[in-house]
Amino acid sequence: MSTQVSPILVGKGTEELFLSPRMANRHGLIAGATGTGKTVTLRVLAEQFSARGIPVFMADIKGDLSGMAKPGGDHPKVTERVRELGLEDFTYGGFPVVFWDIFGERGHPIRATVSEMGPLLISRILSLNETQSGVMSLVFKIADDNGLLLLDIKDLRAMVRFVGDNAAQFKTEYGNISPASIGAIQRNLLVLEEQGGDYLFGEPALDIMDFLQTDADGRGTVNILAAERLMQSPKVYATFLLWLLAELFEQLPEVGDPAKPKIVFFFDEAHLLFEDLSQVLEDRIEQVVRLIRSKGVGVYFVTQNPLDIPDKVLGQLGNRVQHALRAFTPRDQKAVQAAAQTFRTNPKLDTKTAIMELGVGEALVSLLDEKGTPAMVDRALVAPPRSSLTLLTADEFSRIVQRSLLFGTYEKTIDRESAYEILKKKAELSAAESAPPPSPERVTGRGRSGTADLLGAFAKSAAHAIGSQVGRQIIRGVLGSIFGSGKQR
Ligand SMILES: Nc1ncnc2c1ncn2[C@@H]1O[C@H](COP(=O)(O)OP(=O)(O)OP(=O)(O)O)[C@@H](O)[C@H]1O
Ligand SMILES: [Mg+2]
Repeated sequence: MSTQVSPILVGKGTEELFLSPRMANRHGLIAGATGTGKTVTLRVLAEQFSARGIPVFMADIKGDLSGMAKPGGDHPKVTERVRELGLEDFTYGGFPVVFWDIFGERGHPIRATVSEMGPLLISRILSLNETQSGVMSLVFKIADDNGLLLLDIKDLRAMVRFVGDNAAQFKTEYGNISPASIGAIQRNLLVLEEQGGDYLFGEPALDIMDFLQTDADGRGTVNILAAERLMQSPKVYATFLLWLLAELFEQLPEVGDPAKPKIVFFFDEAHLLFEDLSQVLEDRIEQVVRLIRSKGVGVYFVTQNPLDIPDKVLGQLGNRVQHALRAFTPRDQKAVQAAAQTFRTNPKLDTKTAIMELGVGEALVSLLDEKGTPAMVDRALVAPPRSSLTLLTADEFSRIVQRSLLFGTYEKTIDRESAYEILKKKAELSAAESAPPPSPERVTGRGRSGTADLLGAFAKSAAHAIGSQVGRQIIRGVLGSIFGSGKQR
């Protein structure tokens, strides 16, 4: 059918261990304690995907990945590894990196609109409880029903306030909207704004297809999201990455099992994704991970311990690189035991002992064979990286950003008329007329048109703008609406 793509050397144990690009969409796991070599392993995989024309996405949690843009050289650990593995044709090389940054300082700005993110993920970002999330879903629904666009955080704030102020009128059609929930949402919105929520939401929103580029040499772009600052709000970080995954899921067509993935997505600090997660969201994540494979997306979770990841998700991660774990406490020992048991046993290898003994850049490796069966686990030295382990200088960095084909696409924000502007105009107008507030019976009992009356002529001015939003919702509906509007709880 499609041409064979050369296998990726991951490391060398009793023999050389290769990851088959055909199996790369069966997902993976890179685990290990701090300083054991996870980031270098991620980098080595990313380089080799890129070299085969496969774009990748990763978050740069510690700010130690920018050197991927330039060739390495003379790093003692790297030259030592080249020698240990006897890699005769090893060459250094830089890769086509595209830098992204929610705060717009360390790369192209990257944003989502509030409505794209949907009530479920927004509720997660805001740490809302179940009742409050229910109210958030209603806020989205009322906005949808009235053609009010939710683009940025001030739209959401205005909309929440509008719904709160008119809770009595909305009650018949939408159900109870308690002032306590509205108050909690408003407080959490303030916290989010302090954490940089203003940067996160707005337009132009990311077109996820911009991740899926190749350079003039046919190499996949290496998309690096600056995450040092973002990590100060771990929930925002994890939810934003989840949204990126959901976008990939929704935008990419079905491709079955291709010769190589369309993109590989590394989810670093993956434990954050699963921390105190609601069952609904956990199920959805499990669903996304399961279904995204046939869209040609490989997801690689990077975390300290495999036990950070729910069993149902862990069971789907076919390609595994387990670096050393420490076993100081009884709890650690249990984790080591459990991690050891996730591998297909190798009679010649005591995985439990090995996990505790592994050196830096050494790992227990089990990759899927051509039939999709996990190979027997082997203790291996991970291949060395080709790019530089030193950071880019400020000059090198800004040159890359400015020469990027995407430069200019996201740099300037646009603020078109949306919920905030429309609700503001409405408030100004009714203040000017000093008209009494709309009477409840005019509004209630008449469903949608009643609410539209409440908004007066302003809903019409929004009508031109809703086309795209409605279109998106229909698309989401067809694709199963993983995190979109409408699904509550
Ligand atoms: N495969 C490798 N080849 C050569 N050197 C390696 C390899 N893996 C790790 N090293 C060396 O070990 C150092 C630490 O590795 P790395 O940064 O990947 O650890 P980590 O597990 O990501 O740590 P942290 O949890 O602190 O982020 C690297 O800077 C490099 O010098
Ligand atoms: Mg690291």
